[in-house]
Amino acid sequence: MEGNLQDGPDVEALMHTEEVFEPSDDFKAQANFSDPSVYERAEADPQAWWESWAHKLDWAKPWNTVLDWDAPWAKWFVGGELNVSHNCLDRHVLAGRGEKVAYHWIGEDGDTRTITYAGLLATTERFANVLKGLGVKPGDTVGIYLPMVPEAPAAMLACARIGAVHNVVFGGFSAEAVRERMATSHAQVLITADATLRRGEPLPMKASLDDALDTLPDMRHVVVVDRTGGKADTPMTEGRDVWWHEQMEAAEPSCPAEPFDSEHPLFVLYTSGSTAKPKGIQHTSGGYLTGVTATYSAVFDIKPETDVYWCAADIGWVTGHSYIVYGALANGATSVLYEGAPDYPHKGRFWEIIQNYGVTILYTAPTAIRTFIKWGREIPAGYDLSSLRLLGSVGEPINPRAWLWYREVIGGGHCPIVDTWWQTETGQIMITPLPGITATKPGSATRPFPGVSAAVVTHNGEIVEEGGGFLTLRRPWPGMARTIYMDPDRFQETYWTRFGPEVYDVGDAARIDEDGYFWVLGRTDDVINVSGHRLSTMEVESALVSHKGVAEAAVIGQSDEQTGQAITAFVTLESSVEQSDELLAELREHVAEKIGKLARPKRIIWSDELPKTRSGKIMRRLLRDIAEGRELGDVTTLRDPAVVGMIAERIQAGDED
Ligand code: WT7
Repeated sequence: MEGNLQDGPDVEALMHTEEVFEPSDDFKAQANFSDPSVYERAEADPQAWWESWAHKLDWAKPWNTVLDWDAPWAKWFVGGELNVSHNCLDRHVLAGRGEKVAYHWIGEDGDTRTITYAGLLATTERFANVLKGLGVKPGDTVGIYLPMVPEAPAAMLACARIGAVHNVVFGGFSAEAVRERMATSHAQVLITADATLRRGEPLPMKASLDDALDTLPDMRHVVVVDRTGGKADTPMTEGRDVWWHEQMEAAEPSCPAEPFDSEHPLFVLYTSGSTAKPKGIQHTSGGYLTGVTATYSAVFDIKPETDVYWCAADIGWVTGHSYIVYGALANGATSVLYEGAPDYPHKGRFWEIIQNYGVTILYTAPTAIRTFIKWGREIPAGYDLSSLRLLGSVGEPINPRAWLWYREVIGGGHCPIVDTWWQTETGQIMITPLPGITATKPGSATRPFPGVSAAVVTHNGEIVEEGGGFLTLRRPWPGMARTIYMDPDRFQETYWTRFGPEVYDVGDAARIDEDGYFWVLGRTDDVINVSGHRLSTMEVESALVSHKGVAEAAVIGQSDEQTGQAITAFVTLESSVEQSDELLAELREHVAEKIGKLARPKRIIWSDELPKTRSGKIMRRLLRDIAEGRELGDVTTLRDPAVVGMIAERIQAGDED
């Protein structure tokens, strides 16, 4: 599969290397941070360190206290007031940088738009007035379900401008997922598009939502962006649904930015946890903006005047929120915003964009890198990638082979790689190299960002100096989630209980090596990471059992060469239902409809029974062990040990297909 890795002697030689990559003298000489003493400085007084970053923003009213910490409840820059959209837009325009490009937008159909800071501000102000006209007040939730179009960041910033809380749902999620996220966040307005483009063809978005929208009593208005120029069939409900362009035309152009409290909510973003119910992760204004401003500048070594930065994530994930929108704009950077897929209209699309736009910094996920490896190094070799000077990775552990390929084939052997570990909950990058300081080891996210305290601990919470265990964070940071929307108890219980009330339980396993470098290994809870996207086993199980033919289901993550992990489902059918290939396909589609295509199980294994404990709990760990062909431990607590043998046989039979 990874045969192409072998066809270049440079990569081959490095494949099993223990080599450490020091920053080059050239990179160091120009780096935003090149003096390692920044770590000691931040460690000596973390609050002063974060405060120095907050000072780079415009505040309408200064804070009186940097941090108010009553674990797990944090308030940052207490008493301060600011407007997040002012800091991302007006500030740069007022400083004479209005004509600077904020986004080079590239549509999937080859259409392009150049969005300057002044242009983005104008759109944001007008749309803020549209939202006001639709009755949106500070603190109200506004849903956003859009493709990667410039209206997406503008809509987010318009919410921030008027103190509304955005709730972005990834465009690949299903109507049912949108419905659930709108219902639980009490959204009254939703912004969507007539359609999204898939390989040149419109795929309806608004029309697909209509049934779900009708069941949402709080939903007063739906604003629809005309992405396709009327090519999609888009029924509009009188009085509720309005067109973006018509509203914009009718709106006043100017909407001054009002200051809001530093702890005013900025957004809620749903992510999967270990139950079937996704968690609405709540972020606020001053601390979050400080955290993403600092990390964006230091980790990506941004030079706003000369860099062209491209984060290839979707705006619907936290990576897009923090490092396409808020961190990038707060720093006045120029970004590429790309709507399409990496292989449309051809497999060189990414490299063509880098060549044409002179991209200097690329931030993408290991899954994408492994896909490029599979397609072959001759594809990127056909383009001029010499503008690149820094590469980033995020979303899942990056295997050393992919790391080395990325460095050699894409980075030409001279770009530092920043493997950035963080989460929706952390809001900002937490463990990462600083590219002008940190020597990197392929596969390690290296060290905590200055001011961040992390440790690996045992079951009992004792710190492991060297070795494996559970990853924890041990000190508040400005971008941290403040709560789970409307569920503070779940916030405390999920993250701040297991290892004590002041220790944040990450949910990842990690190893710390003799140099204090962190190697994040993966989740320890019932969360599956498919291509860097988080899904809960329970969520997929409940989607499966909602099919009338299914009696029971157990879902696990299995290692997968391409996607990191893939979903395997063990399904017990109702006794009257026959196993068939058609039903298999139907079940996979059923999950796609309930959650989204990314949740479609890769494998479904029929099981007449599932292994359970005597108290009736499904033993997922045992299923994982069987599926991965690992030696089975003690199975005597099983209600029916014979089940294990039956399932193991099924898996082997399936593997021979
Ligand atoms: C989980 C968070 C952070 C934005 C995208 C995902 C895994 C993330 C890395 C990395 C190893 C990583 C962890 C984490 N993860 N980055 N560099 N190395 N693992 O955000 O959906 O909140 O998922 O992704 O398991 O807990 P998310």
